[in-house]
Amino acid sequence: MWFVSFIKTSIGKKLVMATSGLLLLCFLAIHAFGNAAIYLGSKYFQMYADALHSLPVLVLVFGFGLIIVFAAHIAVGMMLFLEKRKSASRYQVQTRVVDNTFASRTMPYTGLFVLLFIVVHVFGFGVAKPEDVKISLLVQEYLSGFFYSLFYILAFIALAIHLNHGFWSMLQTFGVNHPRFNCLISILTIAVPICFLVIFGGIPIYFMTGGASY
Ligand code: HEM
Repeated sequence: MWFVSFIKTSIGKKLVMATSGLLLLCFLAIHAFGNAAIYLGSKYFQMYADALHSLPVLVLVFGFGLIIVFAAHIAVGMMLFLEKRKSASRYQVQTRVVDNTFASRTMPYTGLFVLLFIVVHVFGFGVAKPEDVKISLLVQEYLSGFFYSLFYILAFIALAIHLNHGFWSMLQTFGVNHPRFNCLISILTIAVPICFLVIFGGIPIYFMTGGASY
């Protein structure tokens, strides 16, 4: 099959990582935008959640699509990591400085931590959600707890580190590396992760500090 031959090539793997990464980034942007309704108050967040659930077919298709994209990103990411480790033991010399940043070296670990977060998160707000409890109240209940919130904040820090290298790497794969854009790219590789960290990370802090008007 052409896809199997494609995935065996280095550029094939990089393209799968960059495309799935871009789709996950789009999901994160939509999710952050929707969750930001929390800052407006319980009523508005519940309105957003209800509007989402009034479209069950869309939610189902979106959910399945997300699982496929996540699975591709994790599987190919692991393949790249194992290949890199094998070749690193053969060739000890690092050729690209930018490939050796803290964020790039820790990609598999930050990725695994975010994966653990997603499992706990989707279990808490999806699988284990009691039928009769409003999602806005459940979010408040969970995120007012110190250890639950701490786990969330640590996961968002790991996500920001992961995005710092992932965003840069995605642009390189798509060929966005003209000298005229390099300054903008450097700014974006920091600004994009920080934006997500502030929007997502602010939510547990908002509940923990009692800032929420619920
Ligand atoms: C404090 C920040 C966050 C809050 C309050 C939050 C809240 C929620 C809620 C309430 C749901 C269930 C939606 C529903 O069915 O009504 C959900 C689903 C989900 N969240 Fe989050 N989320 C946060 C951050 C994140 C992050 C950073 C990720 C990814 C790294 C993520 C990934 C997911 C996924 C994959 C789902 C299942 C798909 C979906 O229903 O959209 N969430 N989240």
